[in-house]
Parts: sequence; structure tokens; C-alpha cells
Amino acid sequence: MSNLYPDHVRIVDVSPRDGLQNESATVPTAVKQALINDLIAAGVKKLEVTSFVSPKWVPQMGDNSDLMMALSDTRRDDVTYSVLVPNMRGFDNALHYRPDEVVIFGSASETFSQKNINCSIDESIERFAPVVVAAKQNGIKVRGVISCTVGCPYEGEIDPSQVAYVTKRMVEIGVEQIGIADTIGVGTPIKVQRALQAAFDYIDVAKISGHFHDTYGQALSNTLAALELGISEFDTSVAGLGGCPYAKGATGNVATEDVVYMLHGMGITTGIDLDKLVVAGERISEFLGRRNDSNVARAIINKRAS
Ligand code: HMG
Ligand code: MG
Repeated sequence: MSNLYPDHVRIVDVSPRDGLQNESATVPTAVKQALINDLIAAGVKKLEVTSFVSPKWVPQMGDNSDLMMALSDTRRDDVTYSVLVPNMRGFDNALHYRPDEVVIFGSASETFSQKNINCSIDESIERFAPVVVAAKQNGIKVRGVISCTVGCPYEGEIDPSQVAYVTKRMVEIGVEQIGIADTIGVGTPIKVQRALQAAFDYIDVAKISGHFHDTYGQALSNTLAALELGISEFDTSVAGLGGCPYAKGATGNVATEDVVYMLHGMGITTGIDLDKLVVAGERISEFLGRRNDSNVARAIINKRAS
């Protein structure tokens, strides 16, 4: 295998959070718990399980405490349970349940920052700074995700210099890992590479992850383009679930099944059992009454049926 690609890639399944935050129907806590446990049974070692945001803004995540409580009986030491927190209020609420990682989320677009978290980019950094300090004091890892690094639903194309600015500010306040997100899936490989490269001056490539929505069907190509730059961690969503309530029309993240199939086909390990992953995606798709948005899952299911 070419040295161009890493030997192992870490998959972060974000479907319990990014996948379910955008569903119109309320998903019972027990169904979320079953999804998380199915993903872990398939070998997923890192997940975004929920977010500690305002339930008025995102009612679908309003059961965050109940879910963390439900998971506490079966928490595993070899699995990283991450939660999103937008401010100290969210951090304090999350701390009761000792997540392994908190994710602060900013934006490379000023307008998206206002729409999503009700403050400017600079104000968001001020809100995040005490969260980073408190997380470190409590031995909790901190990742910073930057939305709209390629395009914004309100501002259109985003210049890589804006990605560089937010990365710099997040690193200055002590963020240990940066996620580069294409929130509305408008990116194409070279544009995504430019967004990723904008972060390189401020943080090591080993500490950068990719978060690509698949609205325009580019997310798998963008994943490959990111791999070529040495990125080895990706946020993905089983069955391609997902979207952001403040980015209307944006569809789900790249499907975990599709990324795993591609990586295994390239000789790159993930530690994930694809057949079990397909079962996890089918279960949640059936519950939601949705078509499974993973091409690989549909192909495997059709093959089994024939
Ligand atoms: P705000 O209204 O500006 O906050 O919202 P505030 O500090 O003025 O407080 C207003 C009220 O909210 C108060 O309650 C606070 O206590 C409460 P009241 O006195 O009115 O009863 N509050 C909270 N409640 C629970 N948890 C909290 C919290 N903070 C304040 N943490 C805020 C600011 C950030 C809270 C709000 O804008 C919000 O919750 N936004 C949620 C945004 C969100 O979750 N978006 C989706 C996730 S991001 C995403 O999907 C993108 C990503 O996938 C990457 C990509 O694809 O780009 C990560
Ligand atoms: Mg997202």
C-alpha cells in the first residue's frame, strides 16, 4: 500500500448527535441508547452521543441527561463518549456524567455563528475559553469543530483565511483537536484540501479531523482528498443520518458504512465490523421510517436478499 495513506483511521460516529438532532420526530432515549450500543458492538470506538445545548434551540437533544444516565451502566473504558457543549452552562450540565471529551463548536462564517449559537465568532471564543480550562481541570479532552469551512448557507463561499483565523483562536485558548466541517456539503476535493491546509499552520495534521456532509454527494471524494493530506480521523454517520437545524436543506454526514467500505478496500483498518454496522444503520433507519442513505448498506442488504 502507498505511504500516501494512513494504516489506520479513527471513525467517530456522530449519528446519535448530528444524525438525530435534525429529525422532526422525537426519538425516544431508549432508541438512542440502542443505536449507540449497536455502533459500539460493531467496533466503533468514538461517538458523539448527544449535545448539552438549549432544549429550546434543539429539542431533539433535550434528553441529554437521561441518555447519559442510561448509558452509565454500560460505559466502556475503551470507548470515547463525546458530547457537544456551547458554553459553561452546557459544560456544567455535562460534567455530572463525565463525558470523555467535550466538543465546542464555532464557525468560519460570521452569519452562521449568529444563527447557530447566537453570538459572533469572537464572542464564541470568549465563551469557549472557560470551557477549555474547566475541561482540562477535570481531565476531559477538548475538540473544537469549525462549521462552514468551505461554504455557508447565508454567506456563500468561505475563504480559507477565515478557517485559519478560527483555528488560530481555538488553539490559542487550548483546544487540542480541530474538526474541519463542511456543514452544507458544498465542498469539492481541492476546496476541502484548502480548508484543511488553512489549519496546518496552527495545529499538527494528526490533530485535525474531517466532518463532511454529503448534500451534494461529494463527501466520500472529500474524505479521500483529506486522507491524501494525512488526515486520519473522520466524523461519519451511520446510514448517512444528519443535518443541522440551522443549515436548512443540508443533509447527513458521509455514511459510516461507505467510509468503512472504502477504507477497508484500500487496506486501511478501522476496527469496525461492516456487517454489524449495516445492522445498526438498518435498525435506526427502520425506526425513523427513512431510506438508508448509505450506498454500501443498500448494496449489502440487496445482496443478502438475492
Ligand atoms: P442564547 O439564547 O444566546 O443563550 O443561546 P443565553 O446564554 O442568552 O441563555 C438563554 C437561555 O438558554 C437561558 O434560559 C439559559 O439558561 C439557557 P432561560 O433563562 O431563558 O430559561 N441556556 C442553556 N440551556 C441548556 N443548555 C445550555 C444553555 N445555554 C444557555 N448549554 C446557545 C445560546 C448556544 C445556548 C443556543 O444558541 C443553542 O443552544 N444553540 C444550539 C445550536 C446547536 O446545537 N446546533 C446544532 C449543533 S452544531 C452542528 O450541527 C454543526 C456540526 O455538526 C459541525 C458542522 O457540520 O458544521 C457540529
Ligand atoms: Mg455536522
